[in-house]
Amino acid sequence: MAESSQAWVTLATNDSYSLGALVLAHSLKRVGSTRRLVVMVTSGVTMVMQDQLRAIFDEVHLVDVLDSKDAVNLALLSRPDLGITFTKLHCWRLTNYNKCVFLDADTLVLQPCDELFDREEFSAAPDPGWPDCFNSGVFVFRPNEDTYKSLISLALTKGSFDGGDQGLLNTYFNDWATRDINRHLPFIYNMCSPSHYSYLPAFKQFGEGVKIAHFIGPNKPWSQFFDSETKTVRPSPTAGHLKYLFQFWWDLFCAHVHPHLSPDMALDREKLLLNETTKLPDQCASDVKITNDSKREAGLASAFSQMKLGEPSPAATMELQEHLRRSAWEQGSMDFMGADAFENIWSKIMDTVNKGPSNK
Ligand code: UDP
Ligand code: GLC
Ligand code: MN
Repeated sequence: MAESSQAWVTLATNDSYSLGALVLAHSLKRVGSTRRLVVMVTSGVTMVMQDQLRAIFDEVHLVDVLDSKDAVNLALLSRPDLGITFTKLHCWRLTNYNKCVFLDADTLVLQPCDELFDREEFSAAPDPGWPDCFNSGVFVFRPNEDTYKSLISLALTKGSFDGGDQGLLNTYFNDWATRDINRHLPFIYNMCSPSHYSYLPAFKQFGEGVKIAHFIGPNKPWSQFFDSETKTVRPSPTAGHLKYLFQFWWDLFCAHVHPHLSPDMALDREKLLLNETTKLPDQCASDVKITNDSKREAGLASAFSQMKLGEPSPAATMELQEHLRRSAWEQGSMDFMGADAFENIWSKIMDTVNKGPSNK
């Protein structure tokens, strides 16, 4: 099969996840992948960021936001933000390609893994939380409009048991666990890093073979405290063995992404559309504004664009980084939806930064 008919596919609905997508693309180039790189974006990604994506991805594909709006199941997952991952389903519409591998924007490729294209739909690795289900952060699939339509119809009739794409896909491909062992990807293709549990002796034994790392959960690499002067990440002490993975993500970010981030991002985020709508096609057309979320996420990328690497940070930048570190910690705690929610802290940060160090 021609390699041009095969692609790595990822998704970003805002500028923060776009930072993940950019680092992911560079990690794939670094290991010499020969397959095409495709990123699906929604209008929540600023135009300036879309240009950055276009510079490394072969295709930047604009899609509508699909959102499950299933607050109850998303609360069980402690991730109210993940209804939007239904947008992932658009990957089945990329019918210019015969076979693809989907990668979450919070994954990082460590070693060559083009052999994944030898697998068939639907292949995925077990979820570490419930291994009879697969994790939908890495999967092999064949684009097909009929599959897309069936998935949407299942979403509308049955919904998803976790409120995100993973619950829906596990219901749809429900014989994954038993039908064919070849559809079980080894864990090295989706080494999930939940902070609450990791099987350390196994990591010691097999860790060197890991090909794709996946930063599942609310603590993403871009929300860790990063010391821009020494270019070192300082994750919480509980990150343990994951620290080197976070550092590798930041090394790629500093080498390939940061130099191209444009200060225009700060202006562009102000222009973010005011009425992004989230809907499932045809049936539910209710409008949901996610403007604040998109603006906040665009703010993070624009803050990084103003960060100077290898130099002592101005007080305002230090303050910003400290707030980011705290917010990352709070996102991992039970209280992150409370009064100290990231959104509240973020507006405080922006007030501080906009005032500048001399006006405080
Ligand atoms: N995603 C996105 N915007 C969001 C949330 C998620 O673009 O606001 C995409 C992104 O590709 C991300 C994937 O959906 O990697 C799944 O979400 P996430 O990785 O946060 O879920 P987790 O793996 O932590 O369960
Ligand atoms: C999971 C997966 C992610 C998926 C989310 C919502 O934990 O890691 O890829 O989007 O749950 O279902
Ligand atoms: Mn993920």
